[in-house]
Amino acid sequence: MAPCSLLPLLLTLSTALQLHDLSTDHQDWDYKHGRRSQSPSCKWKCMQFTLQWPGGFCQSLYNESLCQIPPNINTWTIHGLWPQRVQRCCECWPLFLYDVQELEAELSERWPSLVKFKSSFQFWKDEWEKHGACAACVEELKGPRKYFQICLKLRQHFDIHRLLDDAGITPSCQRPYEVDEVHRVLTPLLGRKHELECVTDQQDRQVWFQVKTSLFPNLTIDCVHHRDADAMAAGSGRSYSRGHACPTDVPLYYLPIDHHHWGAEPVPDRPPPLGGGACT
Ligand SMILES: *[C@@H]1O[C@H](CO)[C@@H](O)[C@H](O)[C@H]1NC(C)=O
Ligand SMILES: *[C@@H]1O[C@H](CO)[C@@H](O)[C@H](O)[C@H]1NC(C)=O
Repeated sequence: MAPCSLLPLLLTLSTALQLHDLSTDHQDWDYKHGRRSQSPSCKWKCMQFTLQWPGGFCQSLYNESLCQIPPNINTWTIHGLWPQRVQRCCECWPLFLYDVQELEAELSERWPSLVKFKSSFQFWKDEWEKHGACAACVEELKGPRKYFQICLKLRQHFDIHRLLDDAGITPSCQRPYEVDEVHRVLTPLLGRKHELECVTDQQDRQVWFQVKTSLFPNLTIDCVHHRDADAMAAGSGRSYSRGHACPTDVPLYYLPIDHHHWGAEPVPDRPPPLGGGACT
């Protein structure tokens, strides 16, 4: 008998023998094939939904020349939806292209990879395996299709570009914005617990590149868990980012997206970018 055809039998057996509880706390818990009919209870209280701004993202990389902004990307894009304080996701639920095929066009537009060394699919795969599989304890997020669909809905709901625009906060090379002002504009939508992330550029300016909002498992805003901040500082996926919380005592720069510098095609008649993007 081929190994794969054993699986249903083993699952039936383990169910019949009531062995499923043994695996509850095991890191290899199999969410996908679910040895219990109900989801295991979540080990986390809050999730962070993170959006990135392609006008500042490149500057946040240790190596800016790895950056690549697809030509059709003109607004905030998704970075991820991350259950907080999860030490380690099980990594037992791989993502395959067919899992996201229906959503691929929309994901490519809303959740593109902005680095050369990673395809967009690889980005989604990493995010799913690192964070998404841990969110599967929530029925609405159980499985790649649901997870990515919810993320797209969240992106649509948290339309901060529009909100900022309506408040007169538009991308600009010259005009800095008070951090408090940006917070004030975003709070009604993102809640009091949202965070702005900046990177210090070569001109010593605070360049805004990311925003995070804290969500309850039911996707409402303002989730607070007192130890989340520690976990975030030690958080995963930040190894190539040199970002930090935007300091409140200096204004931030919300720079325009520069497809010329960061496009897929190298620009032969221009020198390599030096950290100012569209503004050099
Ligand atoms: C940055 O990335 C480019 C392109 O891969 C590479 O050639 C260069 O050596 C890298 N620079 C550093 C400082 O790692
Ligand atoms: C969402 O969950 C939070 C925390 O459990 C709860 O306080 C809030 O009332 C819930 N909101 C909705 C709309 O269910």
